[in-house]
Amino acid sequence: MEHSVIKTQETPMVELKNIYKSFGDVRVLKGISAEIDKGELITFVGPSGCGKTTLLRIVGGFTKSDSGRVVLDGEDISGLPPNMRDTKMVFQSYALFPHMTVAKNIGFGLKLEKWPKKKIDTRVEELLSLVHMEGLGDRTIDRISGGQQQRVALARALALEPKVLLLDEPLSNLDANLRVVMREEIKRIQRRLQVTTIFVTHDQYEAMSISDRLLVLHDGVIQQIGSPIEIYEQPANEFIAGFVGYVNFLEGTIDAIDKEARTLAVSTEYGKLEITLEQDDIKAGDEVLLILRPETLSLSPSHGAERQNTFHGTVESHMYAGNLAKYTVKIEDRMVIVDQYNPRDSDHFKERDNVAVTVPRNIHVLKRGARKE
Ligand SMILES: Nc1ncnc2c1ncn2[C@@H]1O[C@H](COP(=O)(O)OP(=O)(O)O)[C@@H](O)[C@H]1O
Ligand SMILES: [Mg+2]
Repeated sequence: MEHSVIKTQETPMVELKNIYKSFGDVRVLKGISAEIDKGELITFVGPSGCGKTTLLRIVGGFTKSDSGRVVLDGEDISGLPPNMRDTKMVFQSYALFPHMTVAKNIGFGLKLEKWPKKKIDTRVEELLSLVHMEGLGDRTIDRISGGQQQRVALARALALEPKVLLLDEPLSNLDANLRVVMREEIKRIQRRLQVTTIFVTHDQYEAMSISDRLLVLHDGVIQQIGSPIEIYEQPANEFIAGFVGYVNFLEGTIDAIDKEARTLAVSTEYGKLEITLEQDDIKAGDEVLLILRPETLSLSPSHGAERQNTFHGTVESHMYAGNLAKYTVKIEDRMVIVDQYNPRDSDHFKERDNVAVTVPRNIHVLKRGARKE
């Protein structure tokens, strides 16, 4: 903030400042810096082994970073043990006490804090209702379902109203249907309490659907922090572009830029394209990578005529799935995937048909220097 005279932003709930962590020779986190806003649900997401749990444990105080700081609501908590931090972690295993009742599990922390029994009972009732488990307080943990155990773990973590809730792959032990139900539940509870939440998952789709923002980790560094829409529509690099959904990558070179009209002229191996200028750090001669999402491309019968932003190819294969028709189109020597939603309203094509593939103007452009293997 040293550049701004007036600080208008609210203090972030969590600031991660240049965090490094190695295990032996393995450098897991290489300088992680991020700010997490009050009340948001942010997800640490990335492939298995990329350091999500390690980073979460550093926030919760269960793992010590080699260097860097964790600041909670303006206070440096880097040196504090977990129980002295205003954070609560739900472990992947839930770590519930199996022979104790649901109510005892939820009230455990309150008892440690020496709350009077009456007050504990009232709070536990409140929490049971919050997680939709009214009337189940007397059951023991080994007599409730996996989804219910997840609810109990959540209620127990929320009992003392932590400033930050830390959830490590909370849905990984549940079957697919229950995972979707519990995802909605976590989101509902988080919204209702406005509790700042860090959610960890390796599942891109889960991350996209639950988060206000995603923090994508790979190779020990943050690849991008952004809302689901930003991650999908303005990926920062090739790794992020391929992170959710399919992309057709198309290499090109910038021929010309018209800053007035906000357009770029790009040469590609298929031909020339005119596209909307999004970013200002691009200049003529730059090598770029165009991100063509299958659902943004459209197909029409090819009459061989030259049209703006249209390439000619032949249908290699197609698949009809009712709400979607998926085509593989061969242009020059490469395959491009085109998805037609609402295929009922569009032309149908079969193998070896000649087609025109039209590319929209508003596609995302990556500088090829920014490309990551
Ligand atoms: N206590 C530990 N001792 C040694 N290596 C560890 C330890 N914890 C994690 N690692 C290693 O650090 C890397 C990141 O682990 P982790 O943070 O658990 O990844 P993620 O949660 O993203 O799957 C992995 O290579 C893992 O084997
Ligand atoms: Mg993990």
